[in-house]
Amino acid sequence: MSRPGSAKRATVGICVLAPLEIFAKAKKKAIGVLFLTGLAFCASCVDVTTEPSAKSLHKTDALTVFFTGNELGELKPCGCSGGQLGGLSRRAVVFNRVSKHKRLIVDTGSLVKSQSEQDLIKFNIIIEAFRQLDYDLVNLSEKDIEIAQNLGLLSNPIVGFISPYGTGEKIAGGFRDQYLLNGKYITISVLTFNVETSPIKQIREVFPREPGQQSVNILIINRCDDAIISSIAEMGTVDCIVCPAESDEPMVSGEANKRPLVFSVGRFGRYVCGLQITESAGDEDKLKLSFFAVPVGEGLEDEASLVQLYKDYQLLVRERNLLEKHPRFVLPDGLEYAGSESCKACHEYEYGEWSHNAHAHAYAILERAGSQFDPECVICHVVGMDYESGFISEQKTGHLKNVGCENCHGPGSEHIKTGGIVGFTGPKSACIDCHTPENSGDYAGNEGAFLEKIVHWREPKPLAPVK
Ligand code: HEC
Ligand code: HEC
Ligand code: HEC
Ligand code: HEC
Repeated sequence: MSRPGSAKRATVGICVLAPLEIFAKAKKKAIGVLFLTGLAFCASCVDVTTEPSAKSLHKTDALTVFFTGNELGELKPCGCSGGQLGGLSRRAVVFNRVSKHKRLIVDTGSLVKSQSEQDLIKFNIIIEAFRQLDYDLVNLSEKDIEIAQNLGLLSNPIVGFISPYGTGEKIAGGFRDQYLLNGKYITISVLTFNVETSPIKQIREVFPREPGQQSVNILIINRCDDAIISSIAEMGTVDCIVCPAESDEPMVSGEANKRPLVFSVGRFGRYVCGLQITESAGDEDKLKLSFFAVPVGEGLEDEASLVQLYKDYQLLVRERNLLEKHPRFVLPDGLEYAGSESCKACHEYEYGEWSHNAHAHAYAILERAGSQFDPECVICHVVGMDYESGFISEQKTGHLKNVGCENCHGPGSEHIKTGGIVGFTGPKSACIDCHTPENSGDYAGNEGAFLEKIVHWREPKPLAPVK
């Protein structure tokens, strides 16, 4: 496997596909649209492996199959530090570079991490986002399908679901449709397959190759290893295999003119991946498949309706009172959090210094982002949320807003009660607990500079007791 930067190309042969029951019929209407308007429309073609741009527009007609997946509940990057990739609201720009009639948008599944109340809210939001983003297919993982079932999303699906698990009448195991490429029909098939429970040879029955028609056969599987890939490759009927993500970044393997092209889409929606399908130069009977991965970066403008959808999410999180429901541990030795104000009387100097640095405003910054009711954010922006006597809400525990003294020194009740004689024993956080690579991209390698910025103790440290 290699990074998208070294994507290789594969060529697809000609073949015909027999219609099969397991394929979704949901797209029928769209086919009508395709016949009417798909002709002679040149899509804005996508440059292989790099971000599609106006420069990559060329005369060749092309079809694009977009792939996303493994959102794992990441609706949007937290905005804690610059350069974060991802965000449902940034995807639209990438998809819309290709005309609707020349594209297929597929999510490969694993929408959320768990079945927590917050993740169930996210699941609904993500499905609604997919609808707004005009996804054609959403592949549900085993966990996804259970959640979708529990949320009642399967009885009247708002997007086209496929899944290799628990196929019922509403859930197809695959999808097939025709698209116009240079005036000829190309059949694109997507099959989702459980390699752990179904014999691999079944794939051949679904993807037969017959001469006379051009097609692209895409297989999404739930486990990948060399043995599985080579036995699928031997069939000669699969052009492209989508594997589960092993890293946050997309991975691709495969050699030029060799199929199948094997790739995974990465995690947390940081990239939009895709296959660009074009006719092979010099051999019109062959199709060329090119893999690309577009980083979902800050340069991509947010789609307004999806920005609004995120606000709806923040409101739901607030209404469900998730902050108050956050599980809390008991502190050892009867310790309690007291709040930064309570240190001021004896540590006026330190308090004054602290109050000028970013930590003292960490809650306000969440309010500005509208995320002050979201436990997933609040946890690093207040004192002691994981513990009893720690932060619950602004109304109940306003004295524990912001990153305060006790985040780093520990709960202060005993220290205060004894006038500073008893030191700190309770749990405390290290810088890295909050300044993670995801939330503080510049921290690693600059620890010294970060520490310098928060100096609030007298330098050199006082020889006499602080009083
Ligand atoms: C793991 C801890 C952690 C979590 C969880 C977290 N943050 Fe942060 N946040 C930080 C840290 C650390 C910084 C300071 C980063 C830096 O300056 O390098 C920060 C900074 C910020 C900033 C200020 C950025 C700026 O430009 O000054 C915003 C806004 C923010 N976070 C919002 C959020 C939101 C919204 C969430 C939830 C979606 C969230 N944070 C979740 C640790 C966290
Ligand atoms: C982000 C973490 C952090 C926060 C927030 C923080 N401190 Fe500190 N504090 C430190 C570190 C690190 C040191 C220096 C290393 C040490 O002595 O542990 C320190 C040193 C001190 C010292 C000197 C300790 C000594 O041994 O001389 C005092 C007193 C102190 N802090 C009090 C406070 C008070 C009061 C607050 C809140 C108003 C506060 N700190 C907020 C991390 C923090
Ligand atoms: C009633 C006065 C008083 C209050 C209130 C108080 N301290 Fe202290 N603190 C002291 C004294 C006195 C010392 C010096 C003890 C020593 O050097 O042996 C001290 C020492 C410290 C030290 C350095 C020694 C150590 O144990 O790490 C830190 C850090 C500290 N205090 C943090 C805090 C924080 C945080 C708060 C608020 C939660 C707080 N103090 C509240 C009086 C107080
Ligand atoms: C409980 C979580 C937490 C801990 C522990 C923590 N920080 Fe922070 N830190 C934050 C958050 C949240 C912000 C963003 C606050 C804001 O922008 O208002 C931040 C911001 C900062 C900033 C300002 C960054 C900037 O770009 O201006 C510095 C510097 C910093 N932290 C240093 C430290 C150091 C050094 C430590 C360890 C001694 C530490 N922090 C421990 C959560 C934490």
